[in-house]
Amino acid sequence: MSDRYAVIGNPIGHTKSPLIHGLFAEETRQDMRYTAIEGPLEPHDAFADTVRAFIADGGKGMNVTAPFKLKAFAMADERSERATLAGAANAMSFEDGKVVAENFDGVGLVRDIEMNLGLPMAGKRVLLLGAGGAVRGALLPFLDARPAELVIANRTVPKAEALVREVGAQASLTACGYDALEAMGGFDLVVNATSASLTGDLPPVPPSVFDPDGAAYELVYGKRLTPFLRLARNAGVREIADGVGMLVEQAAEAFEWWRGVRPRTRAVIDRLTVPLD
Ligand code: ATR
Repeated sequence: MSDRYAVIGNPIGHTKSPLIHGLFAEETRQDMRYTAIEGPLEPHDAFADTVRAFIADGGKGMNVTAPFKLKAFAMADERSERATLAGAANAMSFEDGKVVAENFDGVGLVRDIEMNLGLPMAGKRVLLLGAGGAVRGALLPFLDARPAELVIANRTVPKAEALVREVGAQASLTACGYDALEAMGGFDLVVNATSASLTGDLPPVPPSVFDPDGAAYELVYGKRLTPFLRLARNAGVREIADGVGMLVEQAAEAFEWWRGVRPRTRAVIDRLTVPLD
């Protein structure tokens, strides 16, 4: 029987994960089946029950999407360091009766920026907008990429400051509010990791944060030219990207973790790309 995997979320109708993992499995000739499961929102422990039923049914691993990333983290027996800082899991592996939690969102994002967009972060000035789950997930992989400067700007400044304290004070890492950005000049890379784009909003970033020779990255996927990307384009930024590459790269990380073989991502990214305009 094929090994079983799934993505769990609610709602789950629009997920691309079964398509992505199906293409990976085809390319790497893995005998596996990957489905989508709509997880129960109520009662509180119904999520863990659903995961355990999947394991009892022979499930080997799961991807986790909204709103279950915290619950998946909480039910795990073992957790990676990056999942622990994020306080959230986007992937689980079921090994010898244990639930192991991982978070590949941040590494997927860094891989997309460095490998696919060809923008190594080492020695660069990087600005992360937001201080919620997405930034928590991205923080360790971003620090590992060794930017000269990493600034976390958030509407609620104490939340960004607390995150910096949590990861450990270091010269290259600072937290601030949006009003402090005006004085900071242009960044080589600006990443919008707020949830503002989901509602068509824009964090109050001054156009001066953009360097025309730099890049702007929107974590949201498939929303075309969001207000953030439009602002970047109007500021003359040549390289603008949405989160399609991150989506595929985090999937590739999970696939390799589960199957021990690394799938190719380029063709899958091309297939899923929605033109920005
Ligand atoms: P999650 O952790 O589930 O991703 P979150 O903790 O609510 O969600 O984080 C969402 C992020 O988007 C936060 O950084 C939030 O800013 P605050 O911490 O100040 O709430 C940010 N955000 C959401 N809507 C925003 C908006 N309209 N303008 C600016 N920032 C916004």
